[in-house]
Amino acid sequence: MERWTNNSAASRRRPLLVAIPLLLLVLSACSQELPQNSLDPAGPISRDIDGLFRLVFWIAVVIFVLVQGGLLYSVFRFRMRKGEELRPVAQVHGNTRLEVVWTILPAILLAGIAVPTLRTLFDLSAEPEGERIDVNVVGHQWWWEFEYPELGVVTANELHIPAEETVYLTMTSDDVIHSFWVPKLNGKRDAVPGRETNLTLIADADTVGDDPILGQCAEFCGLAHADMRIRVFVHTPEDFAEWVAQQAQPAVIPTEGPAAAGWETFQVVCSACHAVGGSDFQQRLAPDLTHFASRTTFGSATFESTPENLRAWLHNPSDLKPMDPDRNDIAAGRILGMPNFGLSESEITELLALLESFR
Ligand code: CUA
Repeated sequence: MERWTNNSAASRRRPLLVAIPLLLLVLSACSQELPQNSLDPAGPISRDIDGLFRLVFWIAVVIFVLVQGGLLYSVFRFRMRKGEELRPVAQVHGNTRLEVVWTILPAILLAGIAVPTLRTLFDLSAEPEGERIDVNVVGHQWWWEFEYPELGVVTANELHIPAEETVYLTMTSDDVIHSFWVPKLNGKRDAVPGRETNLTLIADADTVGDDPILGQCAEFCGLAHADMRIRVFVHTPEDFAEWVAQQAQPAVIPTEGPAAAGWETFQVVCSACHAVGGSDFQQRLAPDLTHFASRTTFGSATFESTPENLRAWLHNPSDLKPMDPDRNDIAAGRILGMPNFGLSESEITELLALLESFR
């Protein structure tokens, strides 16, 4: 008997135990401190989207309150009270005036929302006029390639842009459909094989600094979809010019020490997929390594470029990131992850020295 009462008390508490975490989860969405919060725009384009969202949201709030308020009022005002008999009520059907009102009002409202919505949609999809920086984006399973065609720069996963300037992305994919999404700068846009799509990014001046704006692939694209991330570093125009000048340089190929030994290994093992600017090796099946050490992360902006992480990666990349290198077909240009090459401890040390020299 005792047990039964305990159980029923517990089951009475159960809805509360479910409701509280749920409520906290919902409320946590209101936090402004989240790194990929599209309600915390960091540029004029995302601010336009945010403004439109807020307009529609508040209109919806007013309608929700009016409709639910009317409903609750009716439920309580006209409810059957204790001891009351069911009474016949006047049957009303087809009040023309009301019918007209609740047809026309929503129509006007929807038309009113359509005007700013369509304007924002057209504004966002228009090709920007005037000066801009072009970046070609290629989605790969599972990393992003960024090429600045006019500046002679190729890099991966970490996009560098100057503040308050228009950056125009022309995107495609090498394999399956990906989606480029940096919520604080713009909405999502798919990167589709065999097609070109575009996205404009403009970052506010106050986003300049060492802290990148974060983004990620937003279209399920296989095993490492969740690890297909993006970092956008925003610079002052001067710093950006400096970054470009540095990135446009060819690599300095080491000629002595462990880095030179690493270069020997690179030629045998890594050059089948990775390019190094200024060398004979220009395969772009995997991220360009010319200035690898200038990037803060690797593995599609998922892991900090620390010696420990890089060593673990060179031991067996699939330990860090879910990939499918067994299905690689270099001849067909299909790469589904870096294989475990069974590198020795000293080979790894030499490769780390080489990567470190690619500043
Ligand atoms: Cu690429 Cu998801």
